[in-house]
Amino acid sequence: MATSTQNKKQEILDKQKKYLFPNHILYYTEPLPIDHGEGVFLWDTEGNKYLDFFGGILTTSVGHNRPEVTQAVQKQTEKIIHSSTLYPNEAHVNLAEKMAELTPGKLQVSFFTTSGTGANETAVALAQTHTGNQEVIALRHAYHGRSAMGMALTGVGTWRIGGTAVGGIKHALNPYCYRCPLKMTYPSCGVACAQDIEDTIKTTTCGKIAAFIAEPIQGVGGFITPPAEYLKIASDIAKHYGGLFIADEVQTAFGRTGDKWFGVEHSGVEPDIMTMAKGIANGFPLGNTMTTPEIAESMMKASLTLSTFGGNPVSCAASLATMNVLEKDATPERVGELGIMLRAGLDKLKEKYTIIGDVRGRGLMQGIELVKDRSTKEPAPEATKHLFEATRKLGLIIGKGGLYGNVVRIAPPMTVNEEEIAMALDVLDKGFKAVQQVN
Ligand SMILES: Cc1ncc(COP(=O)(O)O)c(C=O)c1O
Repeated sequence: MATSTQNKKQEILDKQKKYLFPNHILYYTEPLPIDHGEGVFLWDTEGNKYLDFFGGILTTSVGHNRPEVTQAVQKQTEKIIHSSTLYPNEAHVNLAEKMAELTPGKLQVSFFTTSGTGANETAVALAQTHTGNQEVIALRHAYHGRSAMGMALTGVGTWRIGGTAVGGIKHALNPYCYRCPLKMTYPSCGVACAQDIEDTIKTTTCGKIAAFIAEPIQGVGGFITPPAEYLKIASDIAKHYGGLFIADEVQTAFGRTGDKWFGVEHSGVEPDIMTMAKGIANGFPLGNTMTTPEIAESMMKASLTLSTFGGNPVSCAASLATMNVLEKDATPERVGELGIMLRAGLDKLKEKYTIIGDVRGRGLMQGIELVKDRSTKEPAPEATKHLFEATRKLGLIIGKGGLYGNVVRIAPPMTVNEEEIAMALDVLDKGFKAVQQVN
């Protein structure tokens, strides 16, 4: 038995190496082949059980194998799997109606794609056709996707390799309070970093922009959480120079940040365009770009468009079921309460372990930045790797991010309960103890 599971694991690892691009990033010194999951738990091919506190990059929003989602998918699969956006479909329009109900303000119409990258591509094209302007302001440390434009919008060098030939995108300073790019301190800084957007527009664009794009919390960048007033100041500047505000909610949507359905709502700003993906369908591939009917109209006038797989009926059925589960069992208010518990536990760990430089985030999206020394804030990527190995051994899966690879990302399925959060905190405590001893 033990030999056959080891063989299976080795076979998967060998095929991964032989047949997949080597640039697929794999967590852990010895990669972890996943076999199956249930709720907040995953099992590897050797039968080891893990608490999954990364949810396939904030995507398994209502847990693995959630029966309501599985059943909705089975039912839709028996009806029709695919027809393309050329024909109206019940699951497609019902999901669009649901999205209009959940999103704030005047965001009423949807264009579904198959990924966050596709959603952002649609958003930028929409802003360009609506405004007649071409240039876009993004933020340093941002991540917006892996198409050429997605990589060009991204503000982390290691993720930009294929985007260097795309023009018209400029990056302003980001609101990274722990490592303030202006070496100032909040709140006495007056959120001075937001003014860099104006300088960037005046000095590096023609003075008229199509859009300003930002994540309410920078995800891949390391859960960098701006002061609440930042997005209002930033989007007002963008508007002044003719740009629409695109909120990239690929990681922050659907209650993830607690108390609100969307991360941008914590700032009291209404975006002109919102993009989402990841947690939208509990793992089924789906992206969405939402805007107002007026803005959407301008794209219709400018060009033809379709998406072969966008709005796939099975993904839409999975998404509708996911939204129903969230409304029933993991409302933004519930996520907010769980987030307070998680954060309190992480803050306690910060008091205990000097290797923790910063804890930040909202709701069930919390980051821990590891440093060699609290006074110099020198990043500690090796210690982060060490923590990964230690927590894996203890049965906990966590995520990583940040320009320096030194930010732990914690984002369990939103259906997680208090007991499971306590278990994860206990493992993190043991993991940090092991890491601090050798660093
Ligand atoms: C904020 C943000 N936008 C866009 C994307 C791209 O989404 P996808 O990987 O589905 O193309 C990601 C992926 O991590 C993301 O975090």
